[in-house]
Amino acid sequence: MANDYHVRCVPEYEIDTRTATQIVALLDESFPDTFDGRTFFKQLPHFRYLAFEGETVIGQAGVDHRVIRVGGKITRIFGIIDLCVTPARRGVGLAADLLKQVERRAATSNVDFLVLMGDLDTLYIANGFQHVAPAMTKWLVVEDVESVAVIERDLSDCFLIKPLKGENWPVGQIDMVGYLF
Ligand SMILES: CC(C)(COP(=O)(O)OP(=O)(O)OC[C@H]1O[C@@H](n2cnc3c(N)ncnc32)[C@H](O)[C@@H]1OP(=O)(O)O)[C@@H](O)C(=O)NCCC(=O)NCCS
Repeated sequence: MANDYHVRCVPEYEIDTRTATQIVALLDESFPDTFDGRTFFKQLPHFRYLAFEGETVIGQAGVDHRVIRVGGKITRIFGIIDLCVTPARRGVGLAADLLKQVERRAATSNVDFLVLMGDLDTLYIANGFQHVAPAMTKWLVVEDVESVAVIERDLSDCFLIKPLKGENWPVGQIDMVGYLF
């Protein structure tokens, strides 16, 4: 597996129709009945790490580059979105590789934390992520590509972070300053 795929970091605006079609298929098989034929769930990511076998997309991680507010502190993050790997290629470290590549880019950029919403603790904890608890979080609710409301909930069961600059996660309310990825 080590050398039979390659990973490209692609800005969202450069994704061509052929690749987009493959991303739709990958997302649909990974998250059934969720994407409704789109390449995104709530909003476009800013860029993606795409794993290719030849010219076929076999895995992806979207990245949302944004500032959020944590305990009043403006915090720069890469939010990792819709991490997935095609079923036939799972279990050999591809998702972990995508996470590492996003982290490497973030570590050399002006980014304080990786953030993701996840329920696979084994994968994320093994890759250095930690839960935020409590995680009182305010965000813009988007449904069917339409802004609906602003709500606040405790997301400590799924709010995972990884510090990049040795900083502690600030204590206090989290304002996503946008939709929840
Ligand atoms: C989750 C997913 C991206 C993992 O991809 P992968 O390339 O197989 O992951 P890796 O090989 O790097 O890591 C595998 C580890 O992830 C964990 N893992 C993977 N799928 C899991 C699942 N469904 N439930 C619990 N843990 C899981 C395992 O702990 C595994 O570790 P192990 O090999 O020591 O047993 C892939 O299974 C997938 O696309 N699933 C559907 C989409 C999804 O749920 N995405 C995550 C959203 S939070």
